[in-house]
Amino acid sequence: MSKKETIYIIGGGIIGCTTAYYLTKHPKFDKTKTQIIILESNDIACAASGKAGGLLASWAFPTKLGELSFRLHQSLAIEYQGDINWDYRHLPTITLDADLTTGKDNNEVSYDMNLPPNLNWIDPKYVTNWTKLSEKDSTAQVHPYKFTKFILQKAMESHCITLIYGKVINININDETEHLQSFEYIPIMKTTHNKSLVSSSTPNEVNLTLEDKIILCTGPWVPKLLPQCPISGMKAHSITIESKDHMGGNCNIEPYALFNEIKLNDVDLYTPEIYARKHDIYVCGEGDNMTELPDPMKDVEVNPGECDKLYKYASMLSPIQIGQGQIIRRQACFLPVLNVATCSGPLIGETDINNLFMASGHSCWGINNSCATGKLISELVFDGEATSCNIDNLNPQLYFQVSC
Ligand SMILES: Cc1cc2nc3c(=O)[nH]c(=O)nc-3n(C[C@H](O)[C@H](O)[C@H](O)COP(=O)(O)OP(=O)(O)OC[C@H]3O[C@@H](n4cnc5c(N)ncnc54)[C@H](O)[C@@H]3O)c2cc1C
Ligand SMILES: *[C@@H]1O[C@H](CO)[C@@H](O)[C@H](O)[C@H]1NC(C)=O
Ligand SMILES: *[C@@H]1O[C@H](CO)[C@@H](O)[C@H](O)[C@H]1NC(C)=O
Ligand SMILES: *[C@@H]1O[C@H](CO)[C@@H](O)[C@H](O)[C@H]1NC(C)=O
Ligand SMILES: *[C@@H]1O[C@H](CO)[C@@H](O)[C@H](O)[C@H]1NC(C)=O
Ligand SMILES: *[C@@H]1O[C@H](CO)[C@@H](O)[C@H](O)[C@H]1NC(C)=O
Repeated sequence: MSKKETIYIIGGGIIGCTTAYYLTKHPKFDKTKTQIIILESNDIACAASGKAGGLLASWAFPTKLGELSFRLHQSLAIEYQGDINWDYRHLPTITLDADLTTGKDNNEVSYDMNLPPNLNWIDPKYVTNWTKLSEKDSTAQVHPYKFTKFILQKAMESHCITLIYGKVINININDETEHLQSFEYIPIMKTTHNKSLVSSSTPNEVNLTLEDKIILCTGPWVPKLLPQCPISGMKAHSITIESKDHMGGNCNIEPYALFNEIKLNDVDLYTPEIYARKHDIYVCGEGDNMTELPDPMKDVEVNPGECDKLYKYASMLSPIQIGQGQIIRRQACFLPVLNVATCSGPLIGETDINNLFMASGHSCWGINNSCATGKLISELVFDGEATSCNIDNLNPQLYFQVSC
């Protein structure tokens, strides 16, 4: 029996999972010839992909990917009842400026902000300005953890995907031919009685044929395998809140995404984002690039003080629905950031090594751009070029070389 061509997807975040899905949906995908293996070192959507807010905006960057991704999200939501399966819905987005130093309680103008009437869960007390960034038609949201799990499950229904829990520790390239040669991974066993991971002590080696492909979807962890790649991780905390109005599992507040700029004192600004979701309220904070990226097998450490701070300031903007609600989750994860001046990422495409692809560095729009990324990778793999939109400037080879 001749060995099937194998596509190895490393990383089971939203990008790895949408990539698997769109590979299996590509017209040239032939399951008698090709199999897909996903390697994930911890758990599906355990990192940023499961802990993001899930905002989708037609104006997300980079613009070329945006529209495509927005449309794909919409069509998946229609095809698979996204409203039920991953809380897909449209909502307006506004920016809101607040100033905690004025304490406008006694100030005549204070209640004169004319916030949208149905945004009744925000107290205008500290609000000094607001603008509508976009209407309902150009922003939407998903629950990113539910979406990632769902799309992987749909991909697995093709019966040509194997999910292996293991941490890839190196990718070997033949010095002479510059072809992919092999990679090694440490298998990971999940204990059933507790949530901890047990890794095997000896790595498995996988030899690659000339047809096999690797697609690196490890988000901020790419440089652990390709040290020249200019991607780094920025840590960000987030919390989810059960609102005071929570009933029957539903959040029950008017859907809005709020980008806030809060003046704490004469020098400090704080810029949390607050998203009303179907079943909770999500609040995330600013990034911190001083914390080192942990091993991908480990969960990211949570600093409770950062979560308390998010809750404190969100409560000042929404003293009843948030202030009298309760925190359900405190979490932290790493944003994959591309450190080049001329491009905000992501990098999508084949590297200078034949058959070694990457799709990483999505910064703060990885949920938004996940569908487009998966679709474009499927085109690059099966058609040899991206046909749905022009992504020449996202070509990894413009920014780093794997060889040398
Ligand atoms: C606080 C916060 C809020 C956000 N909000 C939004 C939003 O509203 N909208 C939006 O569009 N985007 C948002 N984002 C951005 C989005 O979360 C990311 O861009 C996206 O999740 C990146 O997905 P990924 O699959 O590339 O990476 P990840 O989710 O990091 O997944 C990478 C996976 O690879 C695995 N892995 C790593 N190394 C290895 C290895 N060696 N072997 C095997 N597996 C490995 C990891 O375990 C992980 O599961 C937000 C991000 C943050 C931090
Ligand atoms: C995502 O980003 C793209 C641009 O990258 C934008 O056109 C699109 O509207 C955004 N929203 C979604 C859901 O893709
Ligand atoms: C309010 O916000 C808008 C949009 O950001 C800005 O153009 C305007 O100058 C702001 N007004 C004040 C009074 O700050
Ligand atoms: C979980 O179980 C494994 C053995 O199956 C053990 O080695 C590990 O210490 C346990 N972890 C916790 C957190 O209890
Ligand atoms: C991979 O190839 C090397 C060198 O040809 C060989 O020694 C090794 O046994 C192979 N490993 C596997 C798992 O086939
Ligand atoms: C963190 O980000 C800031 C601003 O973007 C930058 O000046 C600084 O060098 C970064 N620090 C690290 C450790 O990357």
